Amino acid sequence: MIKQAIIPLAGLGTRLLPLTSVFAKELLPINGKPGIQYILDECIDAGVKEIIFIISEKKEMIKKYFNNDKFYKSIIKKKKDPRIINEYRKILKYKKMIKFVYQNKPLGTGDAVLKTKKYIKNNFFLMLLPDDLIIKKNCSKSMIQVHKRYNSSVMASMKVNKKNVSRWGIYKINKRLNKNNFLINGVIEKPSIKEAPSNKAVIGRYILPKSIFSRLIKLKPGKGGEIHITDAIQSLINEKHKFIAHNFSGNYLDCGSMQGYIKSNLEIAKL
Ligand code: G1P
Repeated sequence: MIKQAIIPLAGLGTRLLPLTSVFAKELLPINGKPGIQYILDECIDAGVKEIIFIISEKKEMIKKYFNNDKFYKSIIKKKKDPRIINEYRKILKYKKMIKFVYQNKPLGTGDAVLKTKKYIKNNFFLMLLPDDLIIKKNCSKSMIQVHKRYNSSVMASMKVNKKNVSRWGIYKINKRLNKNNFLINGVIEKPSIKEAPSNKAVIGRYILPKSIFSRLIKLKPGKGGEIHITDAIQSLINEKHKFIAHNFSGNYLDCGSMQGYIKSNLEIAKL
Protein backbone atom coordinates (compact mmCIF):
# COMPACT_ATOMS: atom_id res chain seq x y z
CA MET A 1 0.00 0.00 0.00
CA ILE A 2 1.32 3.46 -0.85
CA LYS A 3 0.05 5.66 1.97
CA GLN A 4 2.82 8.26 2.23
CA ALA A 5 4.13 10.77 -0.29
CA ILE A 6 7.06 13.14 -0.07
CA ILE A 7 7.42 16.42 -1.97
CA PRO A 8 10.79 18.23 -2.15
CA LEU A 9 10.05 21.97 -1.95
CA ALA A 10 13.35 23.48 -0.90
CA GLY A 11 14.45 24.35 -4.46
CA LEU A 12 15.34 27.98 -5.10
CA GLY A 13 13.31 28.35 -8.29
CA THR A 14 15.95 30.40 -10.08
CA ARG A 15 14.47 29.54 -13.48
CA LEU A 16 11.38 31.55 -12.50
CA LEU A 17 13.18 34.70 -11.36
CA PRO A 18 12.23 37.47 -10.65
CA LEU A 19 8.88 35.99 -9.48
CA THR A 20 10.69 33.69 -7.06
CA SER A 21 12.88 36.40 -5.53
CA VAL A 22 10.18 36.92 -2.87
CA PHE A 23 7.70 34.13 -3.59
CA ALA A 24 7.77 30.31 -3.36
CA LYS A 25 7.35 28.98 -6.90
CA GLU A 26 5.03 26.21 -5.69
CA LEU A 27 2.55 28.83 -4.44
CA LEU A 28 2.43 30.69 -7.75
CA PRO A 29 -1.13 30.43 -9.03
CA ILE A 30 -1.94 28.32 -12.05
CA ASN A 31 -5.42 29.27 -13.22
CA GLY A 32 -6.32 30.62 -9.76
CA LYS A 33 -4.87 27.86 -7.58
CA PRO A 34 -1.33 27.33 -6.26
CA GLY A 35 0.68 24.82 -8.31
CA ILE A 36 1.29 22.67 -5.21
CA GLN A 37 -2.46 22.10 -4.87
CA TYR A 38 -2.55 20.19 -8.19
CA ILE A 39 0.22 17.95 -6.87
CA LEU A 40 -1.58 17.43 -3.54
CA ASP A 41 -4.87 16.61 -5.27
CA GLU A 42 -3.12 14.08 -7.51
CA CYS A 43 -1.59 12.11 -4.65
CA ILE A 44 -4.62 12.34 -2.35
CA ASP A 45 -6.84 11.11 -5.18
CA ALA A 46 -4.39 8.22 -5.62
CA GLY A 47 -5.01 7.15 -1.99
CA VAL A 48 -2.12 8.84 -0.14
CA LYS A 49 -2.96 9.68 3.50
CA GLU A 50 0.15 11.53 4.65
CA ILE A 51 2.36 13.96 2.77
CA ILE A 52 5.81 15.11 3.86
CA PHE A 53 6.87 18.52 2.60
CA ILE A 54 10.62 19.11 2.51
CA ILE A 55 11.00 22.88 2.80
CA SER A 56 13.79 25.25 3.79
CA GLU A 57 13.86 28.31 6.06
CA LYS A 58 13.62 30.41 2.90
CA LYS A 59 10.42 28.63 1.95
CA GLU A 60 8.59 29.05 5.31
CA MET A 61 5.90 30.80 3.29
CA ILE A 62 4.61 27.37 2.25
CA LYS A 63 4.14 26.31 5.86
CA LYS A 64 2.34 29.60 6.61
CA TYR A 65 -0.01 29.07 3.68
CA PHE A 66 -1.31 25.86 5.28
CA ASN A 67 -1.17 27.08 8.90
CA ASN A 68 -2.95 30.42 8.79
CA ASP A 69 -5.93 29.53 11.00
CA LYS A 70 -6.12 32.73 13.04
CA PHE A 71 -6.26 34.83 9.90
CA TYR A 72 -9.01 32.73 8.29
CA LYS A 73 -11.11 32.51 11.43
CA SER A 74 -11.17 36.30 11.84
CA ILE A 75 -11.90 36.87 8.12
CA ILE A 76 -14.67 34.26 8.01
CA LYS A 77 -16.39 35.84 11.03
CA LYS A 78 -16.57 39.19 9.25
CA LYS A 79 -17.13 38.02 5.68
CA LYS A 80 -19.37 35.05 5.14
CA ASP A 81 -18.11 34.52 1.59
CA PRO A 82 -18.92 30.88 0.65
CA ARG A 83 -15.97 30.73 -1.76
CA ILE A 84 -13.47 31.67 0.97
CA ILE A 85 -15.13 29.28 3.46
CA ASN A 86 -14.87 26.48 0.91
CA GLU A 87 -11.21 27.18 0.14
CA TYR A 88 -10.40 27.36 3.86
CA ARG A 89 -12.02 23.93 4.35
CA LYS A 90 -9.72 22.54 1.67
CA ILE A 91 -6.67 24.09 3.33
CA LEU A 92 -7.73 22.54 6.66
CA LYS A 93 -8.04 19.13 4.99
CA TYR A 94 -4.53 19.41 3.49
CA LYS A 95 -3.10 20.74 6.75
CA LYS A 96 -4.18 17.61 8.63
CA MET A 97 -2.27 15.46 6.15
CA ILE A 98 0.99 17.44 5.84
CA LYS A 99 4.19 17.13 7.92
CA PHE A 100 7.12 19.50 7.41
CA VAL A 101 10.82 18.67 7.42
CA TYR A 102 13.71 20.96 6.57
CA GLN A 103 16.51 20.90 4.01
CA ASN A 104 18.32 24.20 4.49
CA LYS A 105 21.20 23.57 2.10
CA PRO A 106 20.36 22.90 -1.55
CA LEU A 107 22.32 19.64 -1.79
CA GLY A 108 20.06 17.90 -4.29
CA THR A 109 16.94 15.76 -4.54
CA GLY A 110 18.65 12.73 -2.99
CA ASP A 111 19.59 14.79 0.07
CA ALA A 112 15.98 16.06 0.31
CA VAL A 113 14.70 12.46 0.31
CA LEU A 114 17.15 11.56 3.08
CA LYS A 115 15.56 14.19 5.35
CA THR A 116 12.32 12.15 5.42
CA LYS A 117 14.00 8.90 6.55
CA LYS A 118 12.60 8.73 10.08
CA TYR A 119 9.02 9.43 8.95
CA ILE A 120 8.64 6.70 6.32
CA LYS A 121 6.67 3.78 7.73
CA ASN A 122 5.99 1.34 4.88
CA ASN A 123 8.30 -0.48 2.47
CA PHE A 124 7.43 1.85 -0.44
CA PHE A 125 6.50 5.53 -0.71
CA LEU A 126 5.66 7.99 -3.45
CA MET A 127 7.72 11.05 -4.39
CA LEU A 128 6.33 13.86 -6.53
CA LEU A 129 8.50 16.67 -7.91
CA PRO A 130 6.38 19.83 -7.84
CA ASP A 131 7.78 21.34 -11.07
CA ASP A 132 6.28 18.45 -13.04
CA LEU A 133 2.54 18.78 -13.49
CA ILE A 134 0.76 15.93 -15.21
CA ILE A 135 -2.81 16.67 -16.25
CA LYS A 136 -5.75 14.77 -17.73
CA LYS A 137 -4.84 11.41 -16.15
CA ASN A 138 -3.70 10.73 -12.58
CA CYS A 139 -0.10 9.55 -13.05
CA SER A 140 0.40 8.58 -9.37
CA LYS A 141 -2.71 6.39 -9.48
CA SER A 142 -1.54 4.52 -12.60
CA MET A 143 1.93 4.06 -11.07
CA ILE A 144 0.46 2.64 -7.86
CA GLN A 145 -1.41 0.07 -9.98
CA VAL A 146 1.85 -0.90 -11.73
CA HIS A 147 3.59 -1.13 -8.34
CA LYS A 148 0.86 -3.47 -7.02
CA ARG A 149 0.96 -5.66 -10.10
CA TYR A 150 4.75 -6.15 -10.19
CA ASN A 151 5.63 -5.45 -6.53
CA SER A 152 8.32 -3.16 -7.88
CA SER A 153 9.65 0.38 -7.70
CA VAL A 154 8.28 2.59 -10.47
CA MET A 155 9.29 5.86 -12.16
CA ALA A 156 7.25 7.98 -14.56
CA SER A 157 8.79 8.19 -17.98
CA MET A 158 8.50 9.95 -21.31
CA LYS A 159 10.42 10.12 -24.59
CA VAL A 160 12.28 13.40 -25.05
CA ASN A 161 14.12 15.01 -27.94
CA LYS A 162 17.64 13.56 -28.17
CA LYS A 163 18.99 17.14 -28.20
CA ASN A 164 17.59 17.72 -24.67
CA VAL A 165 18.77 14.59 -22.83
CA SER A 166 21.11 16.62 -20.61
CA ARG A 167 18.06 18.18 -18.88
CA TRP A 168 16.84 14.84 -17.47
CA GLY A 169 17.62 11.55 -15.82
CA ILE A 170 17.87 9.12 -18.78
CA TYR A 171 17.34 5.37 -18.49
CA LYS A 172 18.10 2.19 -20.37
CA ILE A 173 15.52 -0.56 -20.98
CA ASN A 174 16.26 -4.12 -20.00
CA LYS A 175 12.91 -5.72 -20.90
CA ARG A 176 9.49 -4.66 -22.18
CA LEU A 177 6.82 -5.88 -19.74
CA ASN A 178 3.87 -4.56 -21.76
CA LYS A 179 2.89 -1.53 -23.85
CA ASN A 180 3.64 1.11 -21.19
CA ASN A 181 5.93 -0.59 -18.67
CA PHE A 182 9.61 -1.42 -19.00
CA LEU A 183 12.08 -3.01 -16.65
CA ILE A 184 15.19 -0.84 -16.61
CA ASN A 185 18.82 -1.72 -16.07
CA GLY A 186 20.42 1.68 -15.76
CA VAL A 187 19.74 5.36 -15.22
CA ILE A 188 22.08 8.32 -15.51
CA GLU A 189 21.56 11.89 -14.34
CA LYS A 190 21.66 14.59 -17.03
CA PRO A 191 23.99 12.82 -19.50
CA SER A 192 25.56 14.45 -22.55
CA ILE A 193 24.14 13.33 -25.92
CA LYS A 194 27.13 11.03 -26.24
CA GLU A 195 26.74 9.46 -22.78
CA ALA A 196 22.93 9.04 -23.00
CA PRO A 197 21.83 5.38 -23.20
CA SER A 198 18.51 6.40 -24.89
CA ASN A 199 16.16 9.36 -25.22
CA LYS A 200 13.81 8.08 -22.50
CA ALA A 201 13.59 10.44 -19.54
CA VAL A 202 12.51 10.08 -15.93
CA ILE A 203 9.72 12.52 -15.01
CA GLY A 204 9.07 13.65 -11.42
CA ARG A 205 6.98 10.77 -10.02
CA TYR A 206 8.70 7.90 -8.24
CA ILE A 207 7.58 4.95 -6.14
CA LEU A 208 10.68 4.26 -4.09
CA PRO A 209 11.61 1.50 -1.65
CA LYS A 210 12.56 2.27 1.93
CA SER A 211 15.95 0.66 1.17
CA ILE A 212 16.84 3.77 -0.88
CA PHE A 213 17.82 5.53 2.38
CA SER A 214 20.76 3.26 3.11
CA ARG A 215 22.06 3.87 -0.45
CA LEU A 216 21.59 7.64 -0.15
CA ILE A 217 23.60 7.76 3.08
CA LYS A 218 26.57 6.19 1.27
CA LEU A 219 26.40 8.36 -1.88
CA LYS A 220 29.07 10.90 -2.74
CA PRO A 221 27.91 14.08 -4.51
CA GLY A 222 27.38 13.49 -8.25
CA LYS A 223 26.69 15.87 -11.19
CA GLY A 224 26.88 19.52 -10.17
CA GLY A 225 28.06 18.55 -6.66
CA GLU A 226 24.55 17.38 -5.64
CA ILE A 227 23.24 14.12 -4.18
CA HIS A 228 20.97 12.70 -6.87
CA ILE A 229 18.09 10.30 -6.37
CA THR A 230 19.07 8.92 -9.80
CA ASP A 231 22.44 7.72 -8.44
CA ALA A 232 20.77 5.97 -5.48
CA ILE A 233 18.37 4.26 -7.91
CA GLN A 234 21.34 3.07 -10.01
CA SER A 235 22.97 1.67 -6.90
CA LEU A 236 19.78 -0.33 -6.10
CA ILE A 237 19.60 -1.59 -9.70
CA ASN A 238 23.22 -2.79 -9.37
CA GLU A 239 22.01 -4.90 -6.45
CA LYS A 240 19.23 -6.43 -8.61
CA HIS A 241 16.41 -4.29 -7.24
CA LYS A 242 13.52 -4.11 -9.77
CA PHE A 243 12.72 -0.67 -11.23
CA ILE A 244 9.98 -0.13 -13.80
CA ALA A 245 9.70 2.88 -16.11
CA HIS A 246 6.03 3.68 -16.68
CA ASN A 247 5.05 5.66 -19.78
CA PHE A 248 2.23 7.76 -18.38
CA SER A 249 -0.71 8.79 -20.50
CA GLY A 250 -1.49 12.26 -19.06
CA ASN A 251 -0.09 15.51 -20.45
CA TYR A 252 3.19 16.76 -19.00
CA LEU A 253 3.74 20.44 -18.10
CA ASP A 254 7.11 21.74 -16.90
CA CYS A 255 6.16 24.42 -14.35
CA GLY A 256 9.74 25.04 -13.29
CA SER A 257 10.57 27.17 -16.34
CA MET A 258 8.92 30.47 -17.30
CA GLN A 259 7.81 29.19 -20.69
CA GLY A 260 6.39 26.02 -19.13
CA TYR A 261 4.71 27.95 -16.32
CA ILE A 262 2.91 30.20 -18.81
CA LYS A 263 1.91 27.19 -20.91
CA SER A 264 0.54 25.44 -17.79
CA ASN A 265 -1.81 28.35 -17.14
CA LEU A 266 -3.10 28.21 -20.70
CA GLU A 267 -3.48 24.41 -20.81
CA ILE A 268 -5.18 24.14 -17.41
CA ALA A 269 -7.60 26.98 -18.29
CA LYS A 270 -8.77 24.83 -21.22
CA LEU A 271 -9.68 21.82 -19.01
C1 G1P B 1 15.07 15.94 -11.46
C2 G1P B 1 15.80 14.61 -11.55
C3 G1P B 1 15.89 14.15 -13.01
C4 G1P B 1 14.49 14.06 -13.61
C5 G1P B 1 13.78 15.41 -13.45
C6 G1P B 1 12.33 15.32 -13.87
O1 G1P B 1 15.86 16.93 -12.09
O2 G1P B 1 17.08 14.76 -10.97
O3 G1P B 1 16.51 12.88 -13.06
O4 G1P B 1 14.57 13.69 -14.97
O5 G1P B 1 13.79 15.86 -12.09
O6 G1P B 1 11.73 16.58 -13.85
P1 G1P B 1 15.62 18.51 -11.83
O7 G1P B 1 14.32 18.88 -12.51
O8 G1P B 1 15.53 18.68 -10.35
O9 G1P B 1 16.79 19.20 -12.46
